[in-house]
Amino acid sequence: MTATAMLCRLVQQVRQKAQQGRLEPAKIGIQVYEKQDTFGLPLHGEMYYVDHRPVILWFYCVTPADSDGETTICDGSKVYEALSDPTKKLLQEKRLKYIRRYLDGEWQLIYQTDNIDDAASFAGWNGLQVHIDRDSNSIHTEYVHPAVITSKWGNHKVYINNVLTVWWQEEHLGRETSIVRFEDGSKISKDIIDEVVAAQNKFVIPIAWHPQDFVVIDNTRTLHGRRAFTDTNREVYLRMVQSVDFGCSKSSTKSTSSISRHIVIKYGLKLYTFTNKGSNGGWSRSLRRC
Ligand SMILES: [Fe+2]
Repeated sequence: MTATAMLCRLVQQVRQKAQQGRLEPAKIGIQVYEKQDTFGLPLHGEMYYVDHRPVILWFYCVTPADSDGETTICDGSKVYEALSDPTKKLLQEKRLKYIRRYLDGEWQLIYQTDNIDDAASFAGWNGLQVHIDRDSNSIHTEYVHPAVITSKWGNHKVYINNVLTVWWQEEHLGRETSIVRFEDGSKISKDIIDEVVAAQNKFVIPIAWHPQDFVVIDNTRTLHGRRAFTDTNREVYLRMVQSVDFGCSKSSTKSTSSISRHIVIKYGLKLYTFTNKGSNGGWSRSLRRC
């Protein structure tokens, strides 16, 4: 079975189960979402607040929104290049710290378990510093990671992280249980945020969806986001790929033609045809609407 057929079949299964109201509770660390959020999302990398994050993201459109709802993408290496020298220096010198407090009732949903030690152990496996507060039955975590990384393919310096999504939630929604700071505890200034947003705005590409469109992006280089919409019939799915072998290593400078033996893309990111070289083991199990 080709990768396309596998993904289509999985989407169909999720849709069927959702329609029949029998989506099974996800196992710990494996999430399947059926609820569709409609708010916009700033540009971000996927899951840069944990160790085990996907390297490739697949988007698949079943039904586009009747208006708006574009997925946005942006080359994080261009964003990095567009930043001022002092900001580049600051981001090289100071790593980010994602600080999270999972309240009683929240961690059970997120980690799909009622056992706080199991939840904490899963968070620890994902590279988080974990503290269990047994008095309040809550979990506190911290995760330190650079704002700028080296891309998995091509050896580019890339601005990619989850600063904007977390910062926006704190500033605009007053969310205090999930915040991002520099590693030394200092706040990320509004000037830095504005500079990053201005750099992203120069290079952002909106993707207007059509039914059965695929988009594949490198989660070590390309930021993604979403424009707000109102049509709740919109169905765009995200499939996360934990690892993939394109036949080129991190230090390799093989051209796109090497990659295109396995994935044929046009204009960088839009997928038309591909062959399924990888085994199922190269796929993560999470599929969600996005
Ligand atoms: Fe995302």
